Amino acid sequence: MHAWLCETLDGVAALKWKALPTPEPQAGEVRIAIKAASLNFPDLLIVEGKYQFKPALPFVPGAEYAGTVEAVGAGVQHVKPGDTVAAIAGTGGFATHACVKAAQVLPLPPGFDVVHAAAFAFTYGTSHHALVDRAQLQAGETVLVLGAAGGVGTAALQIAKAMGARVIAAASTAEKCALCTELGADATINYSSENLREALKTLTQGRGPDVVYDPVGDALAEPAFRSIAWRGRYLVVGFAGGAIPALPWNLALLKGASVVGVFWGDFVKREPQASAAALQQLAQWYGQGKVRPVIDQRLPMAQIEAAYARMASRQVRGKLILVND
Ligand SMILES: NC(=O)c1ccc[n+]([C@@H]2O[C@H](COP(=O)([O-])OP(=O)(O)OC[C@H]3O[C@@H](n4cnc5c(N)ncnc54)[C@H](OP(=O)(O)O)[C@@H]3O)[C@@H](O)[C@H]2O)c1
Repeated sequence: MHAWLCETLDGVAALKWKALPTPEPQAGEVRIAIKAASLNFPDLLIVEGKYQFKPALPFVPGAEYAGTVEAVGAGVQHVKPGDTVAAIAGTGGFATHACVKAAQVLPLPPGFDVVHAAAFAFTYGTSHHALVDRAQLQAGETVLVLGAAGGVGTAALQIAKAMGARVIAAASTAEKCALCTELGADATINYSSENLREALKTLTQGRGPDVVYDPVGDALAEPAFRSIAWRGRYLVVGFAGGAIPALPWNLALLKGASVVGVFWGDFVKREPQASAAALQQLAQWYGQGKVRPVIDQRLPMAQIEAAYARMASRQVRGKLILVND
């Protein structure tokens, strides 16, 4: 097998494509021949030691991938060689093969595209947990999605629409806003050229959004929180913009608003049954065409550096995929 090995925390340029012994799955493990792996923002952070999960060196990055089961270890019941599966393992995906714990392997329902499967659970799982579980979003409410053309952003937009909410999608370019309109956004705001607060006032007749979905943080957080509606819920999803914002607490008091943390990885570990039920609903919505990953580009696995550069420079629309031929 071959894999992009991270031996030092010096970023993507230090990753090395290495030939490694193909591992035999141990008891409770599954070996997967990887067809596609998607890039998630944490993949950028993890190779610089900036992500909350810090695997021991050396490791293979790539949190989410899909492919075919080649072999299973003792005790593995729910998948068998030849099955098409997705895996959310935190690491291991930027390779030709991976051995992974069986609990992290999901068999695909019939009709589920393998490339979509490599780009699904991380972003849709996060956005479902955020909107359905943490924000308790109701049909008819208004959601503001920041970074709405990105991975978790496009998932949040589609999920909010599937729940009957009104979606205001906000992004940094006209092209990204146009993509959000194509995906069903009711209104868009280009926050590079428009004043976020003024645009939100106009679009909500001064009420503000009931829910703010924020994977960006940085300078967008304060104007977005100042705009929130009475009893609003502000979802803290991530800080792709760089800085972790600090907000004046009186803003929460004045709006009777909640700041709500979202940590999908721990939700999956701490509440496996609730997480499985969420993924089941998402798979059903996928089957009904209500949610569908937006594929930005498919690049050969060899082009990992170009893939990372595209995400770091905010060019990715939806999900970027690395494929093995
Ligand atoms: N809490 C959780 O459980 C959880 C789970 C998954 C991901 N996350 C977090 O969610 C965030 C987004 O992840 P993702 O995989 O969706 O990433 P992504 O596809 O790259 O989307 C991030 C978006 O952030 C915006 N952005 C603003 N400033 C940026 C900058 N300096 N560099 C890069 N992007 C910038 C971009 O939109 P514009 O250009 O339109 O501004 C971009 O589309 C990350 O912080 C990630 O760690 C959290």
